[in-house]
Amino acid sequence: MTVSQPFDYSGRSVFVAGGTSGINLGIARAYAKAGASVAVLSRKQAKVDAAVAELREHGGSVLGFVADVREFDAVAAALTSARDRFGELDVLVSGAAGNFPAPITAMSSNAFNAVIGIDLAGTYNVLRAGYEHLRKPGASVINISAPQSSIPMPMQVHACSAKAGVDMLTRVCAIEWGAAGVRVNAVIPGPITGTEGMARLAPTPQIEQVITESVPLARYGTTQEIADCCLWLSSPMASYVTGALIPVDGGWSLGGAAQMFTEMRKFVDNPDHLASYGSQS
Ligand code: NAP
Ligand code: COA
Repeated sequence: MTVSQPFDYSGRSVFVAGGTSGINLGIARAYAKAGASVAVLSRKQAKVDAAVAELREHGGSVLGFVADVREFDAVAAALTSARDRFGELDVLVSGAAGNFPAPITAMSSNAFNAVIGIDLAGTYNVLRAGYEHLRKPGASVINISAPQSSIPMPMQVHACSAKAGVDMLTRVCAIEWGAAGVRVNAVIPGPITGTEGMARLAPTPQIEQVITESVPLARYGTTQEIADCCLWLSSPMASYVTGALIPVDGGWSLGGAAQMFTEMRKFVDNPDHLASYGSQS
């Protein structure tokens, strides 16, 4: 069954931090197709240029910024620029993240801090710098979390810790910003096909198979399915939803995700297997 575009974001402005590939680019694309002005931000000029070129094909205004979410001043400058061009922001998505599989003993302090810095402190920076530019009342903030936020997984201590923090950041901001009419929610994608995240966490057909079988809907999700949730969440159809952590995961968080525990632990316990896991940044 095909679904026609049910949301009209004409005249709305959307900023997607980390919006130049994978799930976040899918989210930016969905808002662009729905008529919004869209800004994306990430570290690599080539990725920003490619994303901007693609998003412009949908006909709306598009801006791209090169910045690292770990650098507050750079993030703040990008958000100020977007607001100057677009006016107050209606939707702010924070999705920049880094990940690699590694057991704690193969992870330096710098490695742990890199993921905490991007996922958690980066989300803080985007929300903290973004708040003054949000439309009040009416704006919607969406953080892209992960199943690791509530499900412990071996080789994921950095992502588990960071995304748990992202969920709490979501809920605290929802309380503090509710009176201003700003809603703050998190979307928790399950395993999404064709993404860098799953290329790193499920680098072999065998691991991919284990994951697929552990999802109640028996398949990976798509970037479009994550984007569809965001379109709804930032629309008037979700006007009483704030502080929610919403799994869009085919039911994976009901129990199947915990099977990753067993699968990934095999690699922790066997250094040869760890090498074959493709543990490269
Ligand atoms: P991805 O394609 O690697 O997307 C990450 C994005 O963030 C890229 O645009 C990247 O661009 C940017 N980025 C990374 N570090 C950054 C930094 N320090 N500053 C600014 N931008 C930065 O990965 P993905 O798999 O689609 O994941 C997207 C989001 O979904 C993440 O929040 C992830 O935790 C979440 N998620 C993914 C899955 C999945 O199945 N893939 C499942 C659950 C949750 P640059 O390299 O140019 O910086
Ligand atoms: N195992 C163990 N440690 C690793 C690692 C791995 N597979 N990959 C990177 N590291 C370590 C590095 O060795 C370094 O530690 P050190 O200084 O003690 O040697 C630390 O992590 C930081 O690496 P660096 O490459 O300098 O960080 P960065 O800020 O340039 O990149 C990463 C951040 C490591 C998260 C990188 O993988 C990245 O940019 N990822 C973005 C894309 C992504 O992960 N997408 C999926 C999102 S779910």
